[in-house]
Amino acid sequence: MNALPATNKNFKLASRLLGLDSKLEQCLLIPFREIKVECTIPKDNGSLATFIGFRVQHDNARGPMKGGIKYHPEVNPDEVNALPQLMTWKTAVANIPYGGAKGGIGCSPSDLSISELKRLTRVFTQKIHDLIGIHTNVPPPDMGTNPQTMAWILDEYSKFHGYSPAVVTGKPIDLGGSLGRDAATGRGVLFAAEALLRDHGKSIAGQHFVVQGFGNVGSWAAQLITEQGGKIVAVSDITGAIKNKNGIDIASLLKHVKENRGVKGFHGADSIDPNSILVEDCDVLIPAALGGVINRDNAKDIKAKFIVEAANHPTDPEADEILAKKGVVILPDIYANSGGVTVSYFEWVQNIQGFMWDEERVNTELKAYMNRGFKDVKDMCKTHNCDLRMGAFTLGVNRVARATTLRGWEA
Ligand SMILES: NC(=O)c1ccc[n+]([C@@H]2O[C@H](COP(=O)([O-])OP(=O)(O)OC[C@H]3O[C@@H](n4cnc5c(N)ncnc54)[C@H](O)[C@@H]3O)[C@@H](O)[C@H]2O)c1
Repeated sequence: MNALPATNKNFKLASRLLGLDSKLEQCLLIPFREIKVECTIPKDNGSLATFIGFRVQHDNARGPMKGGIKYHPEVNPDEVNALPQLMTWKTAVANIPYGGAKGGIGCSPSDLSISELKRLTRVFTQKIHDLIGIHTNVPPPDMGTNPQTMAWILDEYSKFHGYSPAVVTGKPIDLGGSLGRDAATGRGVLFAAEALLRDHGKSIAGQHFVVQGFGNVGSWAAQLITEQGGKIVAVSDITGAIKNKNGIDIASLLKHVKENRGVKGFHGADSIDPNSILVEDCDVLIPAALGGVINRDNAKDIKAKFIVEAANHPTDPEADEILAKKGVVILPDIYANSGGVTVSYFEWVQNIQGFMWDEERVNTELKAYMNRGFKDVKDMCKTHNCDLRMGAFTLGVNRVARATTLRGWEA
């Protein structure tokens, strides 16, 4: 689902609360640059195939633009349009010196061989190498791409510009990737949930959690929450949904998922209707799969007291209103899932320093950033008498507006 209308609406509300000049508002909203490139490669069978690549760079007032490279059949500028903007506000909320971008190639990676994917990535890099860079735009992986894709981009980019590990993040550790990056978004979700619960006089221990999505983010969040004494009572993924009100053994579930490629058939829990996962009884609901899953059709039935948005834009604006009336507290995506981009920033810093941090340092710094971010969002809530989503938007938009004004945007 297209997140652009909701993102624009939240931006405009934040802009009104901040009293931004309407010209500055326009300047902040319109992307800095949109690029569309043709990528033709020889397939393994000798035939030629053409794909279209995109890069949307939204804003660079606070630093190099950050945002993933996605390989998916539905990648197009409209689809990616909300995401670069969200990255601008997210990096500002996290208070890391970045702006926002996003992009990718319209392709189905599972239909391409490794050598075809490698050629496609190299051609795409040849077409955009002048527009990305350590101090301009630093892409990480996204859906359909992975550390290997980043290694190919690093190699191709380095042919033009010399060895440049900091041009991409989410790299393999052997090429300068950061320790702790794999778990970072899930760990950030844990720290975000801890901060939220602490603010309500509670802790992770003893709380009941439901997690939708058991991929990178959902599985790490579930694992780390369990380690802190939280109970994961229901989990779902694309294969199905399971429930155990006494708490699911996450270590056994991880083993089952590895062997069976999904949660379906796990013996330590009962199978339930995947459509009911979001309305299961719990204290904290963590959507960690898709956008738009919490909407006007199911919002009224949600029983959780807290929602921690691990996925990007999982809650529709209509659902936001319904949930606010029910007193459900939502910790928004642009803060709650910022752990990944924060550790990407640490990776970039380590590459520039030429000095690798140990994992403990990465996790300690991440916790400090997440705790500071929560306090900053809460301060904006108090200043503008608003909910956490608007607290995060006013925080992010205000930081970018200040940087833009200081730099002198009008000429
Ligand atoms: N990976 C990151 O660092 C990161 C950072 C910020 C935000 N996010 C967001 O978090 C979400 C999850 O990302 P990820 O990296 O874990 O992806 P992933 O591909 O590793 O996992 C996605 C999970 O969602 C499940 N899923 C897909 N369709 C589903 C459905 N209809 N019902 C239930 N489950 C379904 C999949 O089976 C899988 O378990 C996405 O919205 C992504 O944009 C990820």
